Amino acid sequence: MNEILFETLPRRGRGKRLIKKLIWKAAGSVALGGLYPGKIHDGWLRVERHDMPLRNLGKGFEGARLAHISDLHSSPIVLDRYLRQCVEAINRMDVEFVAITGDFITGTRFYARRVAAVLKDLNPRIATLACLGNHDYGIFHPAGRGDKHGLSEYVSEQLWQADVFLMLNESRIFRRDGSCLQFVGLEDYWSSRYDPTLAFDSVRRQVPTVGLVHNPDGAVDVAARGADWVLSGHTHGTAPKSSFYNLVMPHHRDFYAGRYSLGQDKHLYVNRGIAYGRRRNINSRPEITLFTLKGHS
Ligand SMILES: [Fe+2]
Ligand SMILES: [Fe+2]
Repeated sequence: MNEILFETLPRRGRGKRLIKKLIWKAAGSVALGGLYPGKIHDGWLRVERHDMPLRNLGKGFEGARLAHISDLHSSPIVLDRYLRQCVEAINRMDVEFVAITGDFITGTRFYARRVAAVLKDLNPRIATLACLGNHDYGIFHPAGRGDKHGLSEYVSEQLWQADVFLMLNESRIFRRDGSCLQFVGLEDYWSSRYDPTLAFDSVRRQVPTVGLVHNPDGAVDVAARGADWVLSGHTHGTAPKSSFYNLVMPHHRDFYAGRYSLGQDKHLYVNRGIAYGRRRNINSRPEITLFTLKGHS
């Protein structure tokens, strides 16, 4: 690294860019070569355990378990080998549902095929459900800049082929032993296709409902429309205005990590994401959230 610094003595303005690039490079290599070993070790990937109280939950789903992951960011930085270990960890939990709240890839269609091949090995008892994140459309800004034509369609196709029930402004209902449980998934909040009205069109009001929306900025609205729980990601555990990135991105970040109350019997959980390398912040460990569903009247 020193060699490069001395080799390219900066002109005005170039120095800052070079130093920034080198810092990112160093952070990436530390995460890849240092913090991320060949095999996940205890403490690297945190399993956060929470109850998920749901009104009117029938006995058929009492005690059912749901593993929530987010922000996989399959890319040259986040390797298959790591994601496969995460899938194996989830399979060992023996859950009824897996919920994935978007940002499957960073980059090209190649990574969509790659991440789908990994996710195909998920083995929940009932289903894997998902919504897309901004990166799955190639969008890197709230104004929708960088939209790559056809990328989200390709990602969606790959996920469906991998037996992931991807919900694009739609809902799915599951029945077990006479009980019902409903999931609603939304297209990304930054995309032009985010349509909560369409998503809740066929939702049944009395059935306990879990909403999946990648960006927690949509959570209040999704809860108001009928979701008892909203699951999100996107923030990577970043607190509001804690980084330069947040200062230049004109979006709200009232919710950034963990559990929040959205009113009586309404809850939001923001997952810190599962990826590593440049996709992480210091002191923000990758996370699998393990929920246990509990009924209450
Ligand atoms: Fe993300
Ligand atoms: Fe995101």
